[in-house]
Amino acid sequence: MAEIYQANDVVRPIDVFDIRDLKKEAGQVIPKGGFGYIVGGAGDGWTLRQNTEAFNHKQLAPRVLADLEKPDPSTSILGTDIRLPAIMAPVAAQGLAHVSAESGTARGVAQSGTIMAVSTYAGQTIAEITKAGDGAPQWFQLYPSKNEKFNRWVLDQAMESGMKAIILTGDATVGGNREADIRNHFTFPLKMANLEKFGGGEGQSMSEIYAQGLQKIAPETVEKVAKLTGLPVIVKGIQTPMDAMLAIGSGASAVYVSNHGGRQLDGGPASFDVLQSIAEAVDGRVPVIFDSGIRRGQHIFKALASGADVVGIGRPAIYGLAVGGWQGVKSVFDFFYRELTMVMQLAGTKTVEEIKKTRLLDLPYGILPDLPLETEQVIR
Ligand code: FNR
Ligand code: LAC
Repeated sequence: MAEIYQANDVVRPIDVFDIRDLKKEAGQVIPKGGFGYIVGGAGDGWTLRQNTEAFNHKQLAPRVLADLEKPDPSTSILGTDIRLPAIMAPVAAQGLAHVSAESGTARGVAQSGTIMAVSTYAGQTIAEITKAGDGAPQWFQLYPSKNEKFNRWVLDQAMESGMKAIILTGDATVGGNREADIRNHFTFPLKMANLEKFGGGEGQSMSEIYAQGLQKIAPETVEKVAKLTGLPVIVKGIQTPMDAMLAIGSGASAVYVSNHGGRQLDGGPASFDVLQSIAEAVDGRVPVIFDSGIRRGQHIFKALASGADVVGIGRPAIYGLAVGGWQGVKSVFDFFYRELTMVMQLAGTKTVEEIKKTRLLDLPYGILPDLPLETEQVIR
């Protein structure tokens, strides 16, 4: 008799000081198999670890005499205004973390004034999740299937539910080498609503689910999704300037720099380490979204100063969901809001636009770059 998967059902605000502590708290309430799936990276976990470590490769230049108070972290992305430059990254099977699943996350993200990306492999239906978001902006993340009927059906659901953009994830055409899942003999204990009709999800491993997906994702796929939906298409999983240009050339409305949180190709670079070169290649043609490894407000600042327009929050929000339901998710986004505004004040930047103009220091690895000070501003 299969063991009943028992996720947490507590709903409460949580004190968030350090995502590492929150991860430990989440580990105490998420059953072993689900926790291994959520925290696990691919292979040795080297890229997973590098994702957060890499933010120390560049430093912030603290500024004084900046004549600044009350920094404003609000911004907009693809025509949607958001309270802070951070969205909810697409995460599958959120019922592994909390009984409210994606609906809990949708409510917490809506209360945080930002966008939720909804995964193809969500536990709940798109309609349930958009209902829980109560009109807050959402994007749909597509894993295209080999089954064309499925692709049309799921995109119709997304359009009918008012999704404002489609994220096309390209870096997971097969499963990464998820050792935790192999050791735990992990198969999904809960349904994936979108797969129910077409078979798949519950009882399957990630690799089995990915095998039903489309491996041959090409520039034409971007064009097809854009034509079918009439929505902006964001290509997720970009790790090289070449792929960013290919995505833009095929009609992508934004590029999403990500290595899937180190869950796919172990041995690849930290996502932050490739961000600046990709953003320079994109050169403002389309917005740049960034994720993988964001654990602090200063990480968000550094990502924006390196060329991102907004970042995606993944695991930290799921830890918040696990511990406190929708209020836990909101507590996590409040944590990032609080830390980011503090960093903005101390780094002398009032707005997101000013953050984007800030140059980071690369000490001690290189020389101190001259900060872009206007001479007449310095010497009256
Ligand atoms: C993910 N991610 C992901 N990405 C995607 O495009 N579709 C998906 O369904 C999922 N599912 C998923 C499940 C879990 C448990 C995790 C942790 C991640 C990747 C996600 O969008 C994002 O790229 C990473 O989570 C970023 O890394 P960090 O910052 O969460 O470590
Ligand atoms: C994962 C898939 C679902 O990272 O994107 O588990």
